[in-house]
Parts: sequence; structure tokens; C-alpha cells
Amino acid sequence: MIEFTINGNTRQLDIEPEMPLLWALRNELGLTGTKFGCGIAACGACTVHVDGQPVRSCVTPVSAVRNSQVTTIEGLTVNAAGNPALTAVQQAWIDHQVPQCGYCQSGMIMAVSALLADNPNPDEAAIERSVSNVCRCGTYPRVSKAIRAIIADNAGSAASAQGDTV
Ligand code: FES
Ligand code: FES
Repeated sequence: MIEFTINGNTRQLDIEPEMPLLWALRNELGLTGTKFGCGIAACGACTVHVDGQPVRSCVTPVSAVRNSQVTTIEGLTVNAAGNPALTAVQQAWIDHQVPQCGYCQSGMIMAVSALLADNPNPDEAAIERSVSNVCRCGTYPRVSKAIRAIIADNAGSAASAQGDTV
């Protein structure tokens, strides 16, 4: 029996410990927002968060997330006064019309969200290192534009917060 928390709910699954987390999410829990692309940790379509860190779920055995907090695209919302709301990354994806076919985008959003949670003002090298996801539709320029808009917003908020304290 493998127990872990998925999008805030504790679940126990009677499955083989070596089953890839991706299959546990999609086939056992019905969370099909996380996609299968390459199966060899190369494309990032299957990216989820495990204890806040981005993980490629196609090569992660479910035993590795025992007692961990797993978040998928379905759980990536902020709860304002108990109501689910879009995160800044999701809103920027809408504002900049990032997706084309959309297949890679849940993994892309999970990778970007983990990066910006860790570092609200990443430089180009940090973005390239952390967001190595593959998009067959070539949405990279819009991904980049959306990330830059979020970074600019973060910088603006930090500046006004600093102004408030002066
Ligand atoms: S499906 Fe996991 S990295 Fe491509
Ligand atoms: S939007 Fe189609 S693969 Fe990325």
C-alpha cells in the first residue's frame, strides 16, 4: 500500500511500488491533466510537484513519493478565502495566449510555477535550466513572454512593498 497526499487529499493505493507516478496519477486517480510524452524524462510533459519540487513523473516510481505531497495541474490553484482561483502563472498563460495544442502545457506550467515559487526573479540561465520542457508546437516565444510578464509583476510588487515601508 502506498500512501501520499495528492492535491491536498491523502490517498492510499494498492499498487506495485515500481509503477511510474504518472500511471498512478492518470490510471489510478483519474488525473489526466498530466501528460505522457517521451517516457524517458526528456520532454517534461509529465511534470508534477513533489514537496514543491518539479519532478518528471514518467520516471519516478510511486514508492518514491510515499508520504509526500504531490501536486498536479488539477491542484495548482490558489485558494482565496476558500475559493479556487488561477495562479499568476495560469493567468499569464491566458493573457499571453501561450498554448497551441496544449499537450505540453500542463508540464510547462508546473515547471515554471516551481521555478518562480523558488525564485521570483530568475535570470535567463536559471529559466533555461529549469524550464527545459519540449513543445512540439513551438510556443517558446509566448512561454518566454509570459514568464517575463510575471517577473515584471513580481518586481513591481516588491518595489511597491518596499515603498510602503519607507
Ligand atoms: S513523459 Fe516524462 S519527461 Fe517526457
Ligand atoms: S502547445 Fe502543442 S506541444 Fe506545446
